[in-house]
Amino acid sequence: MQVVGINSSPRKNGNTDLLLSSVLKGASDGGCETVHIDLSSYEIEYCKACDTCYRTGTCVLMDEFPDVHDVILESDGIVLGSPNYINNVTARMKTLLDRMADTVHCQRLIGKYAAAVSTAGGSGAADVADYLNHSLFIMGASIVGSVGVNLSEGGEVLQKGVDRSYQLGEMLADAICKKTEYPDQQEKHAAMLERMKQLVSQRKDDWTYEYKYFVEKKWL
Ligand SMILES: Cc1cc2nc3c(=O)[nH]c(=O)nc-3n(C[C@H](O)[C@H](O)[C@H](O)COP(=O)(O)O)c2cc1C
Repeated sequence: MQVVGINSSPRKNGNTDLLLSSVLKGASDGGCETVHIDLSSYEIEYCKACDTCYRTGTCVLMDEFPDVHDVILESDGIVLGSPNYINNVTARMKTLLDRMADTVHCQRLIGKYAAAVSTAGGSGAADVADYLNHSLFIMGASIVGSVGVNLSEGGEVLQKGVDRSYQLGEMLADAICKKTEYPDQQEKHAAMLERMKQLVSQRKDDWTYEYKYFVEKKWL
């Protein structure tokens, strides 16, 4: 059982990383191996929308995206962390997600579990965490939960967020271990897979790699 945590703040050991590391600690104490990735240590370029990954399964850009993507694919649990930057995820996180359109089409995160954390100076942390989880959800992952901390709420809010993040990590490990099923999510995942089947079969002459992938999975 492996859980990867991906921090998209440029501030290593910053507020978001405090939450992310706490999720990983909870997952580790729950019996998982953990991998911590700071996106700021990787060179990842913008998606060029060339569609080559749909046709061949590989990206034309020669950068460090595969180093991160491979760890995601080999993990049972994925935790994304982003501070709120202008009411959204950081550009680094969005750049990573944009590179994963083929991961969405091929529903590569089916069977994996996911969680998200965010911090904000003022407000909006929960919305950012929800967006991160929704991105993982449309790739096929089952969502275990999220923690969003608005630092403006003062007091012990960050420490409370660290504690909740630890519990989220334990829940994540438990879900991976027990292969927990979430009927509401499964229904939506089934609908998403149907949509992707339609899309990939409509485009089968262009998106030859993805069509072959679906046939090999016996989805088409
Ligand atoms: C470029 C930038 C944009 C930000 N935009 C917002 C924002 O829209 N709303 C907000 O509440 N906080 C905003 N913040 C504050 C951060 O979300 C907050 O300080 C966060 O905890 C930083 O996390 P970190 O320590 O992991 O980097 C912004 C910070 C930066 C540097």
